[in-house]
Amino acid sequence: MITYENKIILAPMVRIGTLPMRLLALRYGADIVYSEELIDWKFLRSKRKQNDILNTIDFVDQTDGTIVFRTCDEEKDKVVLQLGTCDPDRALRVAKLVENDVAAIDINMGCPKEFSVKGGMGVALMENSDKAFDILKKLVENVTIPVTCKIRIFETPEETLNIVSKLAKAGIKAIGIHGRTRNERPQHPVHTDIIRYVAERISIPVIANGGSKEIEKYSDIFKFKELTGCSSVMLARAAEWNCSIFRKEGLLDMDTVIKDYLKLAVDFDNSPSNTKYCIQNILRDLQETPRGRRFLDCQTLEQICSIWDLGEYCKDKQLMYQNMGIQGRWQVTPSELEPPNKKIKTNDINLEDVAQMKVCFIRANFNDLNLPKSQLHAWAGKNGYKIPQYETQQVEKLFRTILTFDGKKYTSSFWEKNKKFAEQGAALVCLFYLNLITEQELIKLGSIIK
Ligand code: FNR
Repeated sequence: MITYENKIILAPMVRIGTLPMRLLALRYGADIVYSEELIDWKFLRSKRKQNDILNTIDFVDQTDGTIVFRTCDEEKDKVVLQLGTCDPDRALRVAKLVENDVAAIDINMGCPKEFSVKGGMGVALMENSDKAFDILKKLVENVTIPVTCKIRIFETPEETLNIVSKLAKAGIKAIGIHGRTRNERPQHPVHTDIIRYVAERISIPVIANGGSKEIEKYSDIFKFKELTGCSSVMLARAAEWNCSIFRKEGLLDMDTVIKDYLKLAVDFDNSPSNTKYCIQNILRDLQETPRGRRFLDCQTLEQICSIWDLGEYCKDKQLMYQNMGIQGRWQVTPSELEPPNKKIKTNDINLEDVAQMKVCFIRANFNDLNLPKSQLHAWAGKNGYKIPQYETQQVEKLFRTILTFDGKKYTSSFWEKNKKFAEQGAALVCLFYLNLITEQELIKLGSIIK
């Protein structure tokens, strides 16, 4: 069972705290790693899947096939799932889904962002401490793994101690305290004195947080621990910028960290967009250099990897995964997903006059030169046709395009998660009906959805 004494911890960070970064932190020396904050109702849209190719457990969004949370054996006893919630029952339903796959559950009570606060989550729970208490109590009473929460401080030590004492009574095993108030920003000084005041008066372990600006090397972590008198320390930005901060042996240079991170991103089939985001936050100002700009133009994992001499590594691994059955973004076959059951608005179009098939567009299977739309436009130009017209409809967060070409209409009946993908999907259908791509080729691209 996970404990919170003398631990150095990777703090929860949206989009940063996905599996590759968590494993990197553990391999460099972190004792515990938090997931990014996951919102309860979004998590509840997912289904648990064992991924035998990657040896991971995936929670797959049933509306679009994206991975909501991916974890693996290596982190099982060390990963804490952080939840954004304002509802004890929903929180418990998520906790029950992941109970056997993670080491602990943490409730985010420190996020000051509008999205959280308006939804009664994050720091709003500090203003509604009865609700905060109920959520924790419900979890503590019904799950077998430790439950914790992460808060910010109030203006005074006494008020902060008050809420911590109340939450501790719910039976939580530790509490993370970010030493800033809800209105303070990361550049404001951290109130180590208030964290210390609470830590000295409360019996459960307190995890000190907020010291990244002063933590430039491994030994600084212990200075922060001393200063706050806490059991453990949790790092966010210092780890986001250079994850090797967790190394006892000292910091590694940026390129080494990026390479170590990229290998994990490839090994665990991390999405190119998430991988890119994490590297952007390591490069920071260096995105303005020629290499940085080349990096910003990258769209695929292989393109990103090439910049750090890992292009071949990525290509070989992706080929191996493809041969084993992983295709592009699908970690489950799309037919296993429950379709959103949305209806396209046809207005003056008779849907029977629209050539349809169910295909999806998988970006990783195309390069910049052979995208379906580019292929279709090139063919149209060469053969003297007007270029196709695209009309895209959005229902909730999903998109479908009807393409008009040479007086005929084409669409994919698969709802895509953005407009660009929906247009590319419709172009694939058109290419098929023009005999410019075969069914076999579409199957090979993993685009056909049965
Ligand atoms: C955060 N933080 C945060 N906190 C949290 O409880 N859940 C979350 O999902 C996130 N997401 C997040 C993303 C990014 C990019 C940053 C920089 C921060 C806040 C974070 O965990 C921490 O409390 C603060 O950054 C202060 O700690 P440091 O950065 O001084 O170590």
